[in-house]
Amino acid sequence: MPLAAVILAAGKGTRMKSDLPKVLHDICGAPMISHVLAAAREAGSEKTIVVVGFGGDQVAQAIDGRGEIVFQHDQLGTAHALHQAATALGGFDGDILVLCGDTPLVSADILNKMTAAHRESGARATVLTAWLDNPFGYGRIIRDKDGMLLKIVEQKDASPEELQVKEVNTGIYCFAAEGLFQSLALIKPDNAQGEYYLPDLMGLYKGQGKRVGAVPGAHPAEIMGVNDRSQLAQAREAMGQRINSEFMLAGVTMVDPSSVYIDIGVKIGRDTVIYPGTVIQGGTVIGEGCVIGPFSQIVSARMGDKVTVRQSVIEDSEIGSGSTIGPYSYIRPGCVLDGQVKVGDFVELKKVKIGRGSKVPHLSYVGDAVIGEKVNVGAGTITCNYDGEKKWPTVVEDNAFIGSNTNLVAPVRVGRGAVTGAGSTITKDVPEDSLGVARGVQKNIPNWSRRKKSLENEK
Ligand code: UD1
Ligand code: CA
Repeated sequence: MPLAAVILAAGKGTRMKSDLPKVLHDICGAPMISHVLAAAREAGSEKTIVVVGFGGDQVAQAIDGRGEIVFQHDQLGTAHALHQAATALGGFDGDILVLCGDTPLVSADILNKMTAAHRESGARATVLTAWLDNPFGYGRIIRDKDGMLLKIVEQKDASPEELQVKEVNTGIYCFAAEGLFQSLALIKPDNAQGEYYLPDLMGLYKGQGKRVGAVPGAHPAEIMGVNDRSQLAQAREAMGQRINSEFMLAGVTMVDPSSVYIDIGVKIGRDTVIYPGTVIQGGTVIGEGCVIGPFSQIVSARMGDKVTVRQSVIEDSEIGSGSTIGPYSYIRPGCVLDGQVKVGDFVELKKVKIGRGSKVPHLSYVGDAVIGEKVNVGAGTITCNYDGEKKWPTVVEDNAFIGSNTNLVAPVRVGRGAVTGAGSTITKDVPEDSLGVARGVQKNIPNWSRRKKSLENEK
């Protein structure tokens, strides 16, 4: 039986107090709606429709073809929202999952369970329910004395007895496509909020003698709706825990998982250890046996095996196996470090290629450079790559030794095996195996201290 999905995402999300549409707020590196889209696809939806309204163009852009967009111009309620998908799903003859764009923790697993129960029971409509200690704000599941679903009542329309019910509507449903849109047209906005309520379809079907079902089993955390920034943080925490436990089950050690923030889509090899205060984002790939952190941020990086990164920031760069980074390194976009490279304390790199076994151990800025293999870049070395208008390249060939506190004024090349004298400002190429020195010649003035003292005593 074919499966489609409709994600309701037209609401403004007033309580977010934001210029950004609610469903575009980020959770673990992806907008909320992306997580819902992923769950729908994983559950087997072959056609997903997203109903957008407030900020619809922005939402459509973020969805980027992963769903078909339909507009709901006035937000008249959830039944009205679903009705907007009628044309897009014209001719579709299967089951339709209905999800909310603001329920990002929903899993494919629970959707599969609901769909299976729906199909087994032969119901025309099935709602997923959850039991909440504090059901405030949710629609309540009202069952008859045999435990069969009677109807769903909203918080604002419920009687005091109905408000006691702790089983709630998760806002997630499975409907048979047949007759769905004709029935939606029969729903009336005769309720406290004057809206077309999708949950009313349950009572309506029931009245028409059609079978409806209510399937419990959703974990409260999984159906949590995000309506304000505090719930956004709770959802991030829950998803972060989910991501971290998957890594731990796959062989990654986290010394304190509650202080490790990893985005969806990151990959980490086994026996890697992650220390506290570490943020790993943007599709980063980390190999096996690495040690990451404490207090590091790694964005869109690709790292080999046995890499150590301490108290550092790495962005959009490649780090070869066996390299050590930090403490306090800043590796900016466009760096490619081969294996066994050492980048030490207070070193900033930008658009640099570094060959195998080379070292930039202390207090340097290296930008727009190509550094060969087994090169030592002495403490305090700076590439002067910018003349105020343009950036220029620096090349340091294999086995060269850059003396401490060298200024390499680009464009410049230091040849294979060459050496620069400490404190040199190198403006011309240094040929292979040569020494380049460019600094004032030292002059010693004898007895200077004694003379200075006697001059002072005369005063
Ligand atoms: C809804 C349910 C409630 C359920 C709860 C679960 C109704 C009437 N109530 O309440 O029973 O317990 O979800 O979270 O359905 N939307 C539109 N267009 C609209 C109105 C809403 O697209 O005109 C979208 C929203 O963007 C949101 C979803 O539908 O993604 C749910 O709407 P919301 O207003 O948040 O409903 P709740 O009051 O939470
Ligand atoms: Ca909601």
